[in-house]
Amino acid sequence: MSVFLNKRAKGKLRIEKPSQKPFLFHQKLPEYKITPLISLKSLAKNLKIGNIWVKDESNRLGLPAFKILGASWAVYRNIEEKFNIHSENNENFPEFIKKIKKIPSITLITATDGNHGRAVARIAKLYSWNAKIFMPEGSKEARINAILSEGAQVIIVKGDYDLAVQEAAKLESKLNWVIQDTAYENYEKIPKWIIEGYSTLCWEIDNQLSHSKIDLIFIQIGVGSLASAIIKFYKHENYNESPKILGIEPLGVACAKESVKAGKIVTINGPYNSIMAGLNCGTISKISWPLILAGIDGFIEVSNDFAIKGMKTFSNDGIISGETGASGLGGLLELTEQDNGKLFRHQFNLNENSNVLIFSTEGATDPDFYNNEIKKSNIFEKKYLKSC
Ligand SMILES: Cc1ncc(COP(=O)(O)O)c(C=O)c1O
Repeated sequence: MSVFLNKRAKGKLRIEKPSQKPFLFHQKLPEYKITPLISLKSLAKNLKIGNIWVKDESNRLGLPAFKILGASWAVYRNIEEKFNIHSENNENFPEFIKKIKKIPSITLITATDGNHGRAVARIAKLYSWNAKIFMPEGSKEARINAILSEGAQVIIVKGDYDLAVQEAAKLESKLNWVIQDTAYENYEKIPKWIIEGYSTLCWEIDNQLSHSKIDLIFIQIGVGSLASAIIKFYKHENYNESPKILGIEPLGVACAKESVKAGKIVTINGPYNSIMAGLNCGTISKISWPLILAGIDGFIEVSNDFAIKGMKTFSNDGIISGETGASGLGGLLELTEQDNGKLFRHQFNLNENSNVLIFSTEGATDPDFYNNEIKKSNIFEKKYLKSC
C-alpha cells in the first residue's frame, strides 16, 4: 500500500478564516470538556517519528464520537436564522433552552451510518424535539439501538448511505429540519455549519499543543466534512506553518481519491466490504470537493485488517477506538510496515523531529465487535463498560 499523491494540492489556501464562535458555543453545552490529546510515545519511538499525537474523541459531549460538534452548531445556527433567537454571551445554556421552549416543536431529520444520526437525535432530545434518522441497509444493531436510545425514530432504507441521504432530503419543511452533513444541489448551508462546528477540534488542539508545529495530519474521509474542517483550519493562509494532510478512506470506498484522480466528483456504489462504517460513503459532499482537491496532499486506502490493527494498537495505550476511529492509525501502520516506511518517510520528509497528528474519531460504537477484536482487554472492561 502506498500513498496516492495529489499533484493539485496546495500548501496554503485563500479561504474564509475559521471563527471561534462554534468553539465558544460548544463550551456552554452540558457535559462540555476538552477531549484528550495523547502522545503515543513508544509507537513514535519504534517508528522513528518525533511525536504521534492522538485527539481522542471517544467521549465528546457525552457521546462516543466527534460528530455532535457539527450537529449542535448547525442546529443552533438554524435556530438563529429561522427564529432570530441567540445564545447571548452572558447567558448560560439553560437560559437559552428556556427561549427555545417558546418556539414550535421541530423534527430533526438526517441520514447516517451511525454517529452523525445519534448526534442529531441527542440534539433533538436536548431541545425536547423529535428526530427521524435514515440508515442504510445492513447498519449494525448496536448503532441502530444507540440512536433509538436517544428517543429518535429510525428508518432503514433498502440501499446504501447515498440512498438514505436522498430519502431524508425529501422530508424538508418548515418544522422538519434536514440536518445532513453532506452537501448536494440546493443544500449547502447546513453542511457548511457542520464543518464550522468541527473546527472546535482544531482550536482545542492549538491550545493543547501551545501552537507548536504539526508536520503531517492523518484525517478520515467519509463525505469529507471533517476533512474540510481540518483543511480550512490548517491550510488557511494565515496559519503559521501548514502541515501536509493525508486523507484516509477504506479500501474500495475511496470516493475522494477517485474524484481527485478523475478531476470531478465520482460515486462509488455500494454494497461495500469495509468495516469502517463511518467512511462507507459513496459520494463526497459538494462543498467539500474543492477543499479536498486543493487541500489533501495524498490519499491512503486502509484495509479492514489495518483498521483492526489500529484499534488494538490504540487499546495498548489505553485509547478506546472503533473501526472508523482507528483507521487513521491503521493507515500510518500500513504505510510504515511496507519497506519499513522508507518511501512514505521520504515523501513526507518525516524524521525523529516530526510531529504527526491522528484523530481517533470515535470510541467503541459497535461494542460487540470491539470486544471480540480486542478480546478480554482489561482496558475495555474497566474503562468502557463503566462509562456505558
Ligand atoms: C467516527 C467517524 N469518523 C470519521 C467520519 C468521517 O467524517 P465525514 O463524513 O465528515 O468525512 C465519520 C462519519 O460518519 C465518523 O462517523
